[in-house]
Amino acid sequence: MAERHAVDHAGLGGAGLGDLRALFPVLEETVNGAPLAYLDNAATTQTPLPVLEAMRRFEQHDRANIHRGVHTLSQRATDAFDHARGTLKRFVGAGAAHELVFTSGTTEALNLVAHGLSISGTSAAAIQAGDEIVVSGLEHHANLVPWQQAARRCGAQLRILRPDARGRLHVEDLARLLTPRTRVFAVTACANATGERPPFEALLALAAEAGAFTVLDAAQSVAHAVPELSALACDVMAFSGHKMHGPMGTGALVGRRSALERLEPLRYGGDMVAWVSATEASFAELPMRLEGGTPNVPGAVGLAAAAEFIDQTGRARIDAHVGALRAHAAAGLATLPGVTVLSAETGASAIVSFVAEGVHPHDIGTLLDEQGIAVRTGHHCAQPLLDHLGLGPTTRASFALYNTHAEVERLLAGVSRALKLLR
Ligand code: ALA
Repeated sequence: MAERHAVDHAGLGGAGLGDLRALFPVLEETVNGAPLAYLDNAATTQTPLPVLEAMRRFEQHDRANIHRGVHTLSQRATDAFDHARGTLKRFVGAGAAHELVFTSGTTEALNLVAHGLSISGTSAAAIQAGDEIVVSGLEHHANLVPWQQAARRCGAQLRILRPDARGRLHVEDLARLLTPRTRVFAVTACANATGERPPFEALLALAAEAGAFTVLDAAQSVAHAVPELSALACDVMAFSGHKMHGPMGTGALVGRRSALERLEPLRYGGDMVAWVSATEASFAELPMRLEGGTPNVPGAVGLAAAAEFIDQTGRARIDAHVGALRAHAAAGLATLPGVTVLSAETGASAIVSFVAEGVHPHDIGTLLDEQGIAVRTGHHCAQPLLDHLGLGPTTRASFALYNTHAEVERLLAGVSRALKLLR
């Protein structure tokens, strides 16, 4: 089975990253008469042929439900699912003490954690009245709203680790916020709205030392700089498939088994039970305990294929490439009149976000689309951060391994033209 679902694009590791574009047919699209420049990768990356092929093979040869079957296809499907889990655990640097739970994405993973710590099941909720939850001020709504709800449910206090005026987080500020009542600390590995790369390693270490349950949102790093879980003081980490060239509606929560065991399940039923009577049930071991219902098996197969694709391409190469594109775009945008680039100086990021005096991002985005350039405009599901920085909506370009410096030049020319037309 391992061979059937393995991705084989041998040789590509040695090729220039530009050669990989051929594996992403959607990039051949023309939009409004112009070649597509797809610069909305922080929202959704594109999927390469080896990932589509892995899913097609599963659907065509192995499709069946897992675990409950004695028949051959069910066993093949179970093998494919288990193999995908193993591949992804290696991809994120999970060790023997870690477990990986498949989810529909980062949002479900983070909801699973916040819910799992704040409701009581067979034992009392991990968060109690009077406890404190600390969340960084860089977060998108998926790593904030579940904690707001958890705090409300438990009578706990939500405290925000505020960024400075330039959108940076500081370890000293966290040191001042932590108390003996801090139960949870949640932070992103890269802010989706600004591209800021916070010192999450040091922040997690400090929070863990203070006894907090530590949560890392790796959604914006996973395609190029996935954090090495075993090297972090991190209880659980969440990521999404659609932000790493995998299928939409896939993702995972991965973390220490001892931490995941503290979570009350979000979904009851299906394979997550060990034993059931008419009035009671006991639950299965991890990871199934947190995976009630028939899982997205082709999605898991595709997600693992995406991890293999990234590894075969080379994480360091991808990271260096998207970082160079980001630096090129940030430097070019900063020369345009009245343009402010957010987190201009940050390291290791694939996201550049900017505001232009007197011009609404929606208008810039629309004019760029007329030239075939896809960017995202708005609050990027991170309104409190942009409010804190005194900014409204922004225009955001975000890069992936297949983007080129020629596309950055098109972006810069397109923004310059849009500003002239709109002012
Ligand atoms: N969090 C996704 C984004 O930044 C949706 O666009």
